Amino acid sequence: MLRRKVLVTAALPYANAELHIGHARSTYIPADIYVRYRRLKGDEAYYVCGTDEHGTPISVMAEKLKVKPLEITEKIYERDLADFKKLNISFDNFSRTTRPLHYETTQWFFKELYSKGLIYEREVELPYCEKCARYLPDRYVYGTCPYCGFEDARGDECDVCGRALSIGELVNPRCVVCKSPAINKTSKHWFLKLSSFQDWLTEWVTNTDGLLPVTGKNYLINQYLQPGLEDVCISRDLDWGVPIPLPDAEGKVCYVWFDAPIGYVDSTKELFQKLGDQDGWREYWLRDNTELIHFIGKGILYHHTLFWPAVLKGVGYRLPTVIAAFSYGNLEGKKMSKSRGWYLSLKDFLDIFEADALRYYWIAASPLTEDADFVFDDFSKKYNNELADTLGNFIHRVLVFCAKYYNSTIPGVGEEKELEKIEKIIEETMIKVENSIEGFEFREGLLSIIGLARFGNKLFNDNEPWHNIKNNPSKAADTISVCLKLVHAIAVLINPYLPHTSLKILDMLNLNSENLKWSDIMKRFPENHKIGSATPLFHKLEESQISRLKNTVYSRLQSKNDSTSQQVDIKDIANLGLKIGLIVKAELVEDEKDFFRLEIKISDRDIICTKERLTSSLKPKDLEGLKVILNPNSFRKAENMWSILKVKCKEGYKPVKLDRDISVGAVVS
Ligand code: 2FM
Ligand code: ZN
Repeated sequence: MLRRKVLVTAALPYANAELHIGHARSTYIPADIYVRYRRLKGDEAYYVCGTDEHGTPISVMAEKLKVKPLEITEKIYERDLADFKKLNISFDNFSRTTRPLHYETTQWFFKELYSKGLIYEREVELPYCEKCARYLPDRYVYGTCPYCGFEDARGDECDVCGRALSIGELVNPRCVVCKSPAINKTSKHWFLKLSSFQDWLTEWVTNTDGLLPVTGKNYLINQYLQPGLEDVCISRDLDWGVPIPLPDAEGKVCYVWFDAPIGYVDSTKELFQKLGDQDGWREYWLRDNTELIHFIGKGILYHHTLFWPAVLKGVGYRLPTVIAAFSYGNLEGKKMSKSRGWYLSLKDFLDIFEADALRYYWIAASPLTEDADFVFDDFSKKYNNELADTLGNFIHRVLVFCAKYYNSTIPGVGEEKELEKIEKIIEETMIKVENSIEGFEFREGLLSIIGLARFGNKLFNDNEPWHNIKNNPSKAADTISVCLKLVHAIAVLINPYLPHTSLKILDMLNLNSENLKWSDIMKRFPENHKIGSATPLFHKLEESQISRLKNTVYSRLQSKNDSTSQQVDIKDIANLGLKIGLIVKAELVEDEKDFFRLEIKISDRDIICTKERLTSSLKPKDLEGLKVILNPNSFRKAENMWSILKVKCKEGYKPVKLDRDISVGAVVS
């Protein structure tokens, strides 16, 4: 059979903070399931990734800590590597964007695009700090967001309304280091002619089968393609990054979003160097006989579906086959956020539980195109009911029975028909799992495997082998034999999802797991096969384990609040003119399902505002009738207690603050 070739990439994690469980949900677990499946199918499948180490968030952080950026990224690289290993992520290569090969490759891309006239030079007015004597790119500048009025918006993005901001858009820009007001000063920069790809990208995004889910496609068309693509500034006045490879570009480096995706290419080059095949990478980046699949979080669709394909097309490389963009994982109904101290790190989780517990929960929780919510009690319930009671229990009781009554030797099937019946059911499940993984909706497949275990449990119960072993031994043997066939099929079917569990089951069945193949699902045991000894696969979760996890999360939140909160005089609060408002109408903002549009009635007027939707499980109807606290003025001292909304009042846009935790904490009466 033809061996297909596929390169799978996962978004390069940004090297300024530890990974949290949400990253695993949108990107790394799905990509790992996919690549493991393709390998089992016999395809030549590679999985590459690496750390994304440039950009101003890292250099600003390094300045604040008075260390070199590389000191930060080195630690994060090692940490990410350890976390991914513990999560059983099967990268074939995990590189870094600070390696010489990355610099070389990025500069080649730049020069190639430049020589083709796809990059041009232009003088631009930029914020500049006279005191620090330097330009203020991206995170080096902060000021008031022109869209929502938030006063601490960063140069490239507003934290409150989530808008990406272009250079020069901030009102009252200031230097992040010395807080001086920024002036405008011209500087020479390089732009990628993204606008020249407009027609081609529109056609490619609209008509490429299977490239994107419909929602992603519509989002790109409505947000970017219909309004018209703008050229992108791909250089920065900075010393942290890949230098612009032109003679007159002193002090200028590539914008991090220019060099980061090129990391996919050099991580592939590095992989093939390790495999001793210097040119092997070319097949995945230059030819169309292979597949290229990018796994990303939905927030970076623009970069992967418009910007990056334009770069690839510009240099004459092949294009992605699929951009698998998935939704995020929240925590207890709220978006995880490092700055607010609200997150569960991968390490926190994996210090207490096994990787498969998270791999299972994140996939079973909801379809990948919807946000999932990590809820401690739900996690515990799912683990105990589905993994321990259904899957683990079925496997354990069958193996223990076989050991006890058949001296661990699988009894032969008297009735061939019985085995064939089961094989048909297994085959149906196998097809469901294949369709589910190949269709990039992994949940269905996983649930049907659990369904197979549930079916096995019922079959075991209904056939009562513990009675038949005396009254009808051949029937008991048939039951155990078919149940063992089910156990074996489950072990292979579940391998992409829960690799550790799969190997444990195969080991208990005394089967060699090296060279495991997808087709083994249908394979029968050799005659007189002896199984190994059974140990429980999953122990029920103990309350103390969950409490430990909760404590980690809540104490982090607490210490963050303690370190950021400031004393506010009671008089200040009295002077605020806080108002109580009633949400009279709530609906989702069209084309932007992550925001609510709220109509709020207060004593002297009605206001309309948008509010970020923290979790997809929160429906507009849940908000109607809630009373909320509103602060019509700025309330800077207690920033940590409030979030500012983009608010459209009758008088125009004004900042209004509203209790952050609108979903649960905003009811004041
Ligand atoms: O969003 C992020 O965290 C980026 N570091 C992802 C980069 S993906 C690719 F382009 F490298
Ligand atoms: Zn300054």
